[in-house]
Amino acid sequence: MEKPEGRYGFETEAVHGVEGTDPYRALTPPIYMTSTYTFPSMETVDRVLGGEEEGYVYSRAANPTVRQLERTMALLEGGEEGVAFSSGMGAIAAVLLSWMKKGSPFLFSRHLYSGTRHFIESMLIPLGATVRFVDFRAEGPSFVLLEEELRDGAAGLFLETPSNPTLDIVDLSGVGTLCRKYGVPLAVDNTFASPALQKPLEQGADIVIHSATKYLGGHGDLLGGVAIGRRETIQALRAGEATLLGATLSPMNAWLILRGIKTLALRMEAHSLRASALARLLSGKAPVVRVHYPGLSEHPGHEIARRQMKGTGGMLSVEFSSGKMARSFMDGLSLIRIGVSLGDPGSLVEHPASMSHRGWSPEVRRAMGIEDGLVRMSVGLESSDDLCKDVEAALSRL
Ligand SMILES: Cc1ncc(COP(=O)(O)O)c(C=O)c1O
Repeated sequence: MEKPEGRYGFETEAVHGVEGTDPYRALTPPIYMTSTYTFPSMETVDRVLGGEEEGYVYSRAANPTVRQLERTMALLEGGEEGVAFSSGMGAIAAVLLSWMKKGSPFLFSRHLYSGTRHFIESMLIPLGATVRFVDFRAEGPSFVLLEEELRDGAAGLFLETPSNPTLDIVDLSGVGTLCRKYGVPLAVDNTFASPALQKPLEQGADIVIHSATKYLGGHGDLLGGVAIGRRETIQALRAGEATLLGATLSPMNAWLILRGIKTLALRMEAHSLRASALARLLSGKAPVVRVHYPGLSEHPGHEIARRQMKGTGGMLSVEFSSGKMARSFMDGLSLIRIGVSLGDPGSLVEHPASMSHRGWSPEVRRAMGIEDGLVRMSVGLESSDDLCKDVEAALSRL
């Protein structure tokens, strides 16, 4: 895929983004808080709507501040184009619904964000989609299963790596090669890693999706989503699902996300360092049963993560022997707060069985790899020492 710009390192591109279109050359992009755009004449209307001249018509279809974010994300992910949404779920819904038209089965990795799984069960299946979940975390026998599914034809394959909340790692270039071989589009939810740590389009994916609510925005103060890929694919999404479903990003939120992106590289490095320190502290410490963090050498996806990521990120999960113990651990924390989101400066913990995955039966949760004793941690930007002390104090109270 041709990179639109890309002369600089990631940190530089994140700080400077793409050239804006402001006539006053303002340092930060203007926020175009407008629903519609006016025309000087009917002749201009014909030229703009006829596609001969660039111009804006209505902000559900396009807005200059939002376009700046979309172009910046295309630059950072190494894609040709981007389209923004009012949330990550807006982006996921649009991409998956665009695949409905193909009429062939959908393939999903077994380890997915709970909202994506709800969308599949409550929307896609009732709409008539055939859906298959495949377990292909590592190379080997699971890849044989995946190849069999791909060989039969599919509308697309959708996966997360690292996955929420179990931190499973998928070999992107391995899966990407298989998808190419069988002409199946590959969509990757890159929310946990962000383009600072992982660029799926460069490893064989066709579409990258983000919940910009998390690391891109980075401050826990907005909801947003974005999809990036080839120009043709993204233009079709913009004209179709993005504009017609109406999950449109507000210009104010686009501006906040653009601001967040400037510090993305620094933040991801700092999140990774702190999460690594906590993962090391927790692993092997009684009464912890297991720590899921791709930065630990005992993680089954460690080698793949080292190969395809620049750092192992700020998310980890820790498993206790029971749901009761997991909840007591969370109640014993004081600096780290209880909450379902992630990617913010402040650390958060959540208990999937009681919170994000409460709506699923224990059997379904177990099939997703979620035991009752699992606690997910979004490690923030506080001092590592303070975070470690908070976790040690909570463990000592168990
Ligand atoms: C991996 C992942 N993808 C998508 C989403 C959905 O994003 P949003 O809440 O912005 O709709 C989330 C939210 O937690 C997530 O963790």
